[in-house]
Amino acid sequence: METEVLLYEGKAKKLFKKPDSKELRVEYLDQATALNGQKKDAIQGKGALNNQITSILFQLLAQEGIQSHFIKIISKHEQLIEMVDMIPLEVVVRNVAAGSFSKRLGIEEGTTLPQPIVEFYYKDDALDDPFINDDHIAYLGLATEAERQQLRTLALTVNRALQHIFAQIDIRLIDFKIEIGKTAQGHLLLADEISPDTCRLWDMATNNHLDKDIYRRDLGDILPVYQEVYNRLEKEFSSCI
Ligand code: TMP
Repeated sequence: METEVLLYEGKAKKLFKKPDSKELRVEYLDQATALNGQKKDAIQGKGALNNQITSILFQLLAQEGIQSHFIKIISKHEQLIEMVDMIPLEVVVRNVAAGSFSKRLGIEEGTTLPQPIVEFYYKDDALDDPFINDDHIAYLGLATEAERQQLRTLALTVNRALQHIFAQIDIRLIDFKIEIGKTAQGHLLLADEISPDTCRLWDMATNNHLDKDIYRRDLGDILPVYQEVYNRLEKEFSSCI
């Protein structure tokens, strides 16, 4: 029996690797953080919900031809993924003004954008994940020009697919963040997670937050809200994944 080693411990997940294996085991943690880790709380059950939500979404995206690092769910709070070389960029797509976009540009939250806006952030905790532009990406050598174009196209494709998925469960996709990895063959693969931690999701009827803004803004308990997102996904899509 090969021993697993802890490869990485982040704010929401731990990654384990067996020697000589190209697969990783991901453990989703019962932890919520905001403000780059300055706000931190243990929330029992959150890890399992994010793992299950991410697993459903990656499977639905695969059905739309969008491949990810996801291989299979192995328990309520664990999944197996393909090992990829992570590109140190967070790619955000916005359909509606909210969060840092509203703050930076002075646009009222809830303002629908005429077309989706793609933004890049440099994944660096010490620098607080700064907003960067194309020239910064080139200067830092984070992605080639061709890769940056591919990232943008992939992010917009994911946006269309996710908007369609969430619309079927009466949720508006306000914005979201994805991360992308590179396979040994140099292919770009959707990675990390897609969950209420990484998306802004508003109930279509009430505009209530169904996402981590509940935690970021001290609006109440996130667990029932994450459970609601999972229940809707499970009810609508469990038969087709
Ligand atoms: P922002 O409005 O704070 O820039 O966030 C945009 C989207 O990206 C929102 O859905 C939350 C998500 N996001 C993350 O998943 N991780 C992060 O570190 C940040 C800053 C945002």
